[in-house]
Amino acid sequence: KARDTIGGNSLIAWEALRDEATGCTRCPLYKPTTQTVFGEGPVDAPLMFVGEQPGDQEDIAGRPFVGPAGQMFDKAMAEAGVDRSRAYVTNAVKHFKFEQCGKRRIHAKPGAGEIDACRWWIEQEQMLIKPKVTVALGATAARSLFGKVMTIGRERGRALQLPDGGEAWITVHPSYLLRLPDPAQATEEYARFVEDLRTVGSRIA
Ligand code: URA
Repeated sequence: KARDTIGGNSLIAWEALRDEATGCTRCPLYKPTTQTVFGEGPVDAPLMFVGEQPGDQEDIAGRPFVGPAGQMFDKAMAEAGVDRSRAYVTNAVKHFKFEQCGKRRIHAKPGAGEIDACRWWIEQEQMLIKPKVTVALGATAARSLFGKVMTIGRERGRALQLPDGGEAWITVHPSYLLRLPDPAQATEEYARFVEDLRTVGSRIA
């Protein structure tokens, strides 16, 4: 390996973890999926974003946040002036949970058991990357990171402490913004999301 540590963090350890995750059978979700979708980004990233679970496109590509929610996330990050290349992006659940409707695979929400089974991976990612700031995108990510149900409306907009002492923030999931039927509300909520990203970006500036 040309560089086995980056910023004091072990790239080799991270690669070993990612490789191990390809064979994960901690819960039954792996069975009908294409592959594990592990986190990606610099191993010395100061900022970690945690989403819910891969979607249809992520399952096929094997990469997190490449579908519609990922595009929304990228756009909001650019607007907030946060450098996406400094962020590590991962999911609370590493396999796509879906219901088959004809040819379509429809997103199904992961349950507490699946979130808990997958939490081991997030904990390992946290330990290796040691981000200065972790951001939960939505309730599933918050449930995973804090180990309990967190109310987004109440916890949003302030620095919180993870069980390991790290700084964390909670905001909405980009898919929530994509689902809002009222355009005025969608614009307003999107602006709030960008503002949240700007705030977390300022914590690592
Ligand atoms: N939604 C997520 O939470 N994660 C992804 O990777 C894609 C969509």
